[in-house]
Amino acid sequence: MNIGVFGTGYVGLVSAVCFADLGHSVVAVDKDHQVVAKLTAGEPTLYEPGLKEILTRNLDTSRLAFTTRAEEAVRRSEVLFLCVGTPPRSDGSSDPVQVEEVARSLAPLLDGHKLIVEKSTVPVNTARLLDRTLRWWAPLGCDYEVASNPEFLREGSAIHDFLHPDRIVIGADSDRARSLMLELYGDAFDCPKLITDVKTAELIKHASNAFLASKISFINMISNLCEELEVDVSVVAQGIGLDHRIGHHFLNAGLGFGGSCLPKDLQAFVRIAEDFGVDFSLLREVERINEGRVGRLLKKLERALWVVGGKTIGVLGVAFKPNTSDIRNAPSLQVLSRLKDAGAILNVYDPKAASSLEQIHPPNAHLHYAVSPYKAAENAHALVILTEWEEVTSLDLARIRSLMRSPIIVDGRNLFNPVEMRERGFEYYSLGRGDVTISEPHGRVKNPGMEA
Ligand code: UGA
Repeated sequence: MNIGVFGTGYVGLVSAVCFADLGHSVVAVDKDHQVVAKLTAGEPTLYEPGLKEILTRNLDTSRLAFTTRAEEAVRRSEVLFLCVGTPPRSDGSSDPVQVEEVARSLAPLLDGHKLIVEKSTVPVNTARLLDRTLRWWAPLGCDYEVASNPEFLREGSAIHDFLHPDRIVIGADSDRARSLMLELYGDAFDCPKLITDVKTAELIKHASNAFLASKISFINMISNLCEELEVDVSVVAQGIGLDHRIGHHFLNAGLGFGGSCLPKDLQAFVRIAEDFGVDFSLLREVERINEGRVGRLLKKLERALWVVGGKTIGVLGVAFKPNTSDIRNAPSLQVLSRLKDAGAILNVYDPKAASSLEQIHPPNAHLHYAVSPYKAAENAHALVILTEWEEVTSLDLARIRSLMRSPIIVDGRNLFNPVEMRERGFEYYSLGRGDVTISEPHGRVKNPGMEA
């Protein structure tokens, strides 16, 4: 099948390479010449495991091409995916300007039957407005339909998620659109395929992300209680998750959710609900709990260091999650700003996202970029763990201990066992478990932060 993809951000690029890999012929359009040139040369514009291989493989077979010219995609394609960004406005609602712009650019080019499919996350009812926009700018009597096919891939495992989804949701309002979409996915996927009307599919996407965010804030609230009771939240999460109705995914307590999707989609969803007169204060609370996570972590660091100013702090991980170079809405941004403001000297390590951070925070006398976690630990008064990279979970802790000026670790991802860390000589703080310190100078102190 011939497919056009508009927008080569996360969803667009991954969809384009994966549809090509499934045997379709794909032309992906982006208005940025540099992006198109890079992708055409087989250079991924974002870091994602497996992306370079699948990109070059499909460029080589000529099933995949990139262009800045919309007409090259529109004329030849039966299905056109809209994968452009829907950034937040200042009030939290989703800004549809890029979706509208693409619709206006492709509408005059429409000839023959075309199925225009929303794949980016859009507010419910976007298809209706999209349809109207297309009608305003398309040739009279032209034959097209709008469908919704939300994408559920996660950054860091995007290729795998696209090719092995839990479900495929197809929102289409005609038999013709439904069968085109089913033909597109073919027999390659044995997951459930849920066929709905367009509006329902749009709603499923936002509701899914809102539910995932709620699960994270729920366990983070439990983790606050665990700290007071000196109970380990990860064991509580295990006990909750063993109930199949709940499941164990998205019950990792820690710094909360960041990234370009959950925070933005949560806000947009609340706004839409309110627009329709539905009070979604439940989700506002989810957001509020999330916003408190960084402060909670920093309080532990401040209590451990007494005065942060002038202290050397190693920061392990700045990406909002592992296996991505993305720092959008990453908790690290807030942590770094607050530590910088407090006058700390920071040694930052991240295997993939350091260069993204350098663009916002260039190196200076108070901010250094380390080439390894061990360099970040050298002479540090404390280490702060913000991303659960493999390089961090597999640290040689004895080496880390020997490099640090004082063995304080504040772990925002609960990567290590608190008791084992104490046995290794660390003063170790995490979120939602009993904090333990080394026995100096007055013997072991439990939860010193709580006692202060
Ligand atoms: C999320 C959804 O998981 C995808 O299904 C969806 O397609 C995507 O948004 C989107 O709308 O495009 P993503 O933002 O890539 O994917 O990352 P997640 O794996 O969902 O993680 C989001 C945040 O939650 C991260 O900051 C992560 O550290 C945090 N998290 C996740 C936790 O704090 N605890 C957990 O148990 C799980």
